[in-house]
Amino acid sequence: MLLVSIGQLLTLQGSPAGSRPRRGRELKEPGIIADGAVLCVGGKIVCVGTTKDALRDPWLRKNRRKVTEIDCTGKVVLPGFVDSHTHPVFVSPRLVDFEKRIEGASYEEIARAGGGIRSSLEGVRKAGKSILTGKVLAALNDMAAHGTTTVEAKSGYGLTLESELKSLEAIRDAASRWPGTVVATLLGAHVVPKEFQGRSPKYVELVCKKMIPRAAKRKLAQFVDVFCDKGAFTADETEQIFEAAAANGLDVRAHMGQLSETALWPFLRFNPASLDHMDHVSEDDIPQLAKRDTVATLVPGANYFLGLKEYPPARKFIDAGVPVALATDYNPGTSPTMSMPMAMSLACTHMKMAPAEAIAAATINGAWALRVADRKGSIECGKDADLAVFAVDDYREIPYWFGANHCEVSVLNGTTLKLL
Ligand code: NIG
Ligand code: FE
Repeated sequence: MLLVSIGQLLTLQGSPAGSRPRRGRELKEPGIIADGAVLCVGGKIVCVGTTKDALRDPWLRKNRRKVTEIDCTGKVVLPGFVDSHTHPVFVSPRLVDFEKRIEGASYEEIARAGGGIRSSLEGVRKAGKSILTGKVLAALNDMAAHGTTTVEAKSGYGLTLESELKSLEAIRDAASRWPGTVVATLLGAHVVPKEFQGRSPKYVELVCKKMIPRAAKRKLAQFVDVFCDKGAFTADETEQIFEAAAANGLDVRAHMGQLSETALWPFLRFNPASLDHMDHVSEDDIPQLAKRDTVATLVPGANYFLGLKEYPPARKFIDAGVPVALATDYNPGTSPTMSMPMAMSLACTHMKMAPAEAIAAATINGAWALRVADRKGSIECGKDADLAVFAVDDYREIPYWFGANHCEVSVLNGTTLKLL
């Protein structure tokens, strides 16, 4: 497949960040080629450059008739988005919570009254696997329609051994029917379910001794996540869960600082791929993060949907040299959006990220947050053919036109999805 005459081709290549996530000024270098072209063969990118150079390529000259050509005149092409934080395994939207919040209740008040995460458990526990697979697949397709080609998908709305494994199987089954790439995460430690109320050590034991070993043995997850916050799991419990993950060969990531501040240093020895939300972070932890490759994944969709005035301190992170990524946090409670451009728009308007920074955070740094940057997140020879074509003249229009989808074509591992 050949994409030609691309108005602006954003390669996201060529920065010193080739061997680590982007930080500071590196986030502002989208690597634009005007009148660009990308040649993809067998699901891989094989040639990136100007249209003029591509058309001179001897292989292409010989094989031009065999190649499917997509004319991208007046369009923007960029790496498919890497949505590195989603919770797609749930059955129903949480409409009662939505209305209660509009009437003034907070996320935590609703959770304490039996709403929130716990109210999604029954649906997932009762659902057959194929229902869950269908829900996940529908979400993946919607994400692809908005330009996303790699998705991290968490379990976390079952919270029994059986229903967490069922959720991970649903992610695996949906992934096998979707042309993009899915990275699965076990979030057995989302909250303590009702039947373990007052006995959280017992529940942590179930996560550590049963869920993690079984998910690892069956290769159903690459990561273990913990919701470390008030009303969920403590720092000590999070460390125990990370120990179990490491003992079973799984990498770790966590929901951190969404509702309250937690000191991050005890977790850094586990080398988390990413710490997510990060609305509340101590000034002392920021320089520590700046020295490491752990990505701060910001999910402004949650702040927007909960109607919060404050957003994560993206500028503080970026200016201090902390690598940041952006993700949707797609879930029924705090962020029911599948749209990375929406998350990017919120990042620009509410977190004062420049459009170029938002794009790097949604592509190459998302790939770092999932430890797939060797094959995802930029348009470079040898990487997977994951591309998004937007029907706009200038890349800054992607976060600018909020609430509208201008993604015209998504290419997922070389498979084309035409949308407009
Ligand atoms: O990322 N904070 C924990 N998890 C989700 C919310 C889950 C829910 O409300 O269903 C989040 O915001
Ligand atoms: Fe989340």
